Amino acid sequence: MLKEKVEAALNAQLAKEAMASQVYLAMASWAEANGYNGTAKFLFVHSDEERQHMLKLFHYINDRGGHAAVPALAAPKSDYSSIKTLFKDLLSHEIKVSESINELVGICLEEKDFTTNNFLQWYVNEQIEEESLARTILDKLELLGDDPARMYLFDRDIQTMAQAGA
Ligand code: FEO
Repeated sequence: MLKEKVEAALNAQLAKEAMASQVYLAMASWAEANGYNGTAKFLFVHSDEERQHMLKLFHYINDRGGHAAVPALAAPKSDYSSIKTLFKDLLSHEIKVSESINELVGICLEEKDFTTNNFLQWYVNEQIEEESLARTILDKLELLGDDPARMYLFDRDIQTMAQAGA
């Protein structure tokens, strides 16, 4: 049985994963509408992954005798000035999610809920990978500069990454 404090914190994390899925969906829409189809594909896949992160928490809460709450979500930002600003936002979003996972782990340890702590280690590792991927993409964008022809190549490359990850 989940302690109330842990259940509330898990539900708060569930809402953040759902929001991440929304944010990346809006980013995908911006990319698709602006002709960056590879980037859009990458972001659609990423949005689906965040929904899976949300569902994993959802089932865990219910399986442990809690009640997973479907959150209300605010409309995400829908416009970006460039691919680079989009990925900068994506990285800061992931950093916030990592901080939130770490706080959640802290609550589990305070409450001596070692089972949930164990469950959350998957998220701890996932965040390392997601932050690292976002940083790799941003480094690539820094190297490419703002030349539209190079953005075309970037878009093609990231599509390959999305297909490899899917
Ligand atoms: Fe599930 Fe990218 O945080």
